[in-house]
Amino acid sequence: MFEALNTQPPDGLLGLIKAFNSDGRARKIDLGVGVYRDAEGRTPVLKAVKEAERILLETQDSKKYLGPEGDIGFSALLQPIIFGNGERFAGRIAALQTPGGTGALRLGAELVRSANAKAAVRVGAPTWPNHVPIFSAAGLKIEAHRFVVLASQAVDFDGVRQGLAKANPGDVVLLHGCCHNPTGVDFSRDQWREIAGALAARNLTPFVDLAYQGLGDGLDEDAWATRLILETVDEALVAYSCDKNFGLYRDRVGSLFVLARDLDETAKVMSNLAALARVAWSMPPDHGAAVVRIILERPALVAMWREELDSMRERINGNRAALAEADPALAFVRNQRGLFSNLFLSKPQAAALRDRHAIYCTDSGRINVAGMQPADAGAIVAALRAEGCIADKAAA
Ligand SMILES: Cc1ncc(COP(=O)(O)O)c(C=O)c1O
Repeated sequence: MFEALNTQPPDGLLGLIKAFNSDGRARKIDLGVGVYRDAEGRTPVLKAVKEAERILLETQDSKKYLGPEGDIGFSALLQPIIFGNGERFAGRIAALQTPGGTGALRLGAELVRSANAKAAVRVGAPTWPNHVPIFSAAGLKIEAHRFVVLASQAVDFDGVRQGLAKANPGDVVLLHGCCHNPTGVDFSRDQWREIAGALAARNLTPFVDLAYQGLGDGLDEDAWATRLILETVDEALVAYSCDKNFGLYRDRVGSLFVLARDLDETAKVMSNLAALARVAWSMPPDHGAAVVRIILERPALVAMWREELDSMRERINGNRAALAEADPALAFVRNQRGLFSNLFLSKPQAAALRDRHAIYCTDSGRINVAGMQPADAGAIVAALRAEGCIADKAAA
């Protein structure tokens, strides 16, 4: 039967990692892969995580199964961090631990399809390349609208308004809660208010993807939009990832939160999530979520984690400032947030940066600003200018 399969194209990022690793040049800069890197270019295990792992090792006395909802304490302790003082939503949030934010997105997509197979998912373009395949794989229709004006690096709010206006009641609207991937362009607070109002007025269901909380402006600041949305609508989904803000990437740590109208509907949603998880992965992996729970249970470890998160964010925003100061054409990078900005390069330009300057970014021109050191800003700008990547855009 396998002869009927078509070979799938390899993931572009994996090819980029391979090419970077085998590049023998002394000075090479990896702006490709989407992980945080420190001033030594490493992606270290956080100290708070190491300490929690030590406690876990010493205290865990069984590996028996968790239920399909995973580590309940983990999802419960995350809620005040994400939703703030959640009394407003008391009893109305169903939560289930998932394998990473990806698992949360897929499970949420399955829930939407179970509830309303006709719902279309409205997605701003560009978006994280895995979004559309995840929702399509769950059998949902995708409708794309414009999100960013390439030349000005600004939100195309007319495009967003048109997308919302075309949506039918019951459709789902995918929103990046903060630190947009791949552009770093986030909505202003006024824009968020308008979006929240339109969602409520038109009976659209927001699906917030919150994968970078704390890496933009701070934990509360990065959750502001998510909280506003949940206060404004009756029903919402939030796919959360701890893989970036706890540096737990390979441990696959996430959670899906679903706001329902009342206690009965929340219980119904929870039973559906558990049933959907049961046939997907049965139960999520324990380790990473247990580590996060152990941190969140201990004020001293919370303080340690917050300090480490603050320093990651400050480094990212310091790199943004260094790029902006190195060339006025990159001034926009300073105002963007999270790991990514998108220089909207052509494929040959991205290849020239790689081949002639040992600077690696994706073919679409997405750069991971955490992959550089502030001292690299001059070399990056010189390469971008030499390859004609920013001269035109500066004028635009
Ligand atoms: C916008 C966005 N959502 C979700 C995810 C998924 O995160 P995880 O690694 O936890 O599955 C990512 C990861 O890159 C992302 O960028």
